[in-house]
Amino acid sequence: MRTALAAGPRAVPALPRLAAARMRLRALGPGDLDDFRRLEADPRVMRYVGDGRPPPAARIEAMVERVLGYPALYPGLGCWCARRRDDREFVGWFVLKYCGNSCDVEIGYRLRPEAWGRGYATEGARVVVRYVFDELELDRLIGVTHPDNVASQRVLMKAGLADAGWGRYYGRRLRLFAARRFDFGGGDAVGARR
Ligand SMILES: CC(C)(COP(=O)(O)OP(=O)(O)OC[C@H]1O[C@@H](n2cnc3c(N)ncnc32)[C@H](O)[C@@H]1OP(=O)(O)O)[C@@H](O)C(=O)NCCC(=O)NCCS
Repeated sequence: MRTALAAGPRAVPALPRLAAARMRLRALGPGDLDDFRRLEADPRVMRYVGDGRPPPAARIEAMVERVLGYPALYPGLGCWCARRRDDREFVGWFVLKYCGNSCDVEIGYRLRPEAWGRGYATEGARVVVRYVFDELELDRLIGVTHPDNVASQRVLMKAGLADAGWGRYYGRRLRLFAARRFDFGGGDAVGARR
């Protein structure tokens, strides 16, 4: 099993660009941070995230630092900024990271409300899931949502994650979704060790 190990002294490979039909996903960078901050500060976006309210500015800044540093700490994982191919308009972001204090890698996303309901989240989640199993070669990927976040649950299922009941993450009881590489045609469930 190839895991996302903490980086040693070697050079850290950049987060790869990912191509979706209508969007380009590339590593979140300094030029994306105003859009990123605006999203985190939007109550509509944060309705089902954390305690359901936008975090204070200081916590948003701490998050910016964390996501920018993530690929260096955990090669292959991190945050992608999604922009439309045609006009480079900011759509939102997708992330791969360890889920709270667990050993599970989770997929996450937040989109601008103006972009909701047009299939962008499903489209982005699908390319991230393919990357997880085809390139990172992780054995398992999870997604967790607030129980009422039906839109996000639909996105996870349409991206190939199955309903796995409930899990306790981030100190909360959340709906849990999971996918295995085996189900995406990657080796056998126990034999793909390296
Ligand atoms: C969750 C979120 C990413 C969905 O984005 P989106 O681009 O609207 O998703 P899609 O257009 O790909 O739609 C996915 C599915 O959700 C459904 N959906 C969208 N909004 C919905 C809503 N309010 N209630 C129920 N289902 C909804 C769509 O109909 C679609 O399912 P279907 O194809 O079976 O009809 C977006 O609402 C968002 O960014 N929310 C705020 C942040 C957030 O909650 N992130 C997830 C944290 S776990």
